[in-house]
Amino acid sequence: MRFDILTLFPDFFKGPLSSSLLGKAIEKKIVEIYLHDIRECGVGKHKQVDDRPFGGGPGMVLKPDVLKQSLEKVTRSAKKKEAKKPHVVLLDPAGQPFNQQKAKDLAKKQWLILICGHYEGVDERFKELFVDSEVSIGDYILSGGETAALVVTETISRLVPGFLGKQESVISESFSKVKLGGKEVALLDYPAFTRPENFLNRRVPKVLLSGNHQQIEKWRLEKAIEKTRKRRPDLLREQITVSRKR
Ligand SMILES: C[S@@+](CC[C@H](N)C(=O)[O-])C[C@H]1O[C@@H](n2cnc3c(N)ncnc32)[C@H](O)[C@@H]1O
Repeated sequence: MRFDILTLFPDFFKGPLSSSLLGKAIEKKIVEIYLHDIRECGVGKHKQVDDRPFGGGPGMVLKPDVLKQSLEKVTRSAKKKEAKKPHVVLLDPAGQPFNQQKAKDLAKKQWLILICGHYEGVDERFKELFVDSEVSIGDYILSGGETAALVVTETISRLVPGFLGKQESVISESFSKVKLGGKEVALLDYPAFTRPENFLNRRVPKVLLSGNHQQIEKWRLEKAIEKTRKRRPDLLREQITVSRKR
């Protein structure tokens, strides 16, 4: 899987992309991540990348011509190597909510170009002409798209085979779909325990020490449903509708 990130702040990514599992995945070439400085395509002596909004108002808007140039530079340089077409994603608070399902859908694309906005955002015409998906990581405003691009990159990279030691960890995580009452629903993860068995007088649930895998699976599913019902009933809404119909 290949990611190209277009940003005004490539240095922002250096720490996160060289640490932990993401760093290892890059080293092992399980994912390829390339950073591109949008300013290199800035206009004139001062490499201008933004301008005042037409119609007035605060802040600056990223110029469509600069972004087009930056995008084309990436696709041109990658073209010889890549047979596939890139899917262009703009990080934008007004975009579609990013969640595990969206991550799975984007993971199928194999080549993503992520564009980080800044200031007031990006000229609308660039979005209309060059962006395939606009994605938001939540209902709040960040200063730039860099943090959002990192969230998207790491979440999708975890889905690439080989990223995690055990691929089944992805299957049983929070927000992965399970079949329940004939419907697929997303559940939160079940509670996890490790040694010591007794910690400050709190004991590990007996069933987990029983060695009975069927019982353990049943207990975990019950706990996952219980937790989801308490904390995120919205995830179960689909399933609740089904049981009401019966
Ligand atoms: C200050 S924000 C612009 C906010 C924009 N004027 C608005 O109200 O929707 C600057 C940039 O940060 C990024 N950004 C901010 N919040 C985001 C979020 N929740 N999800 C994804 N990107 C975000 C986007 O790339 C955006 O262009």
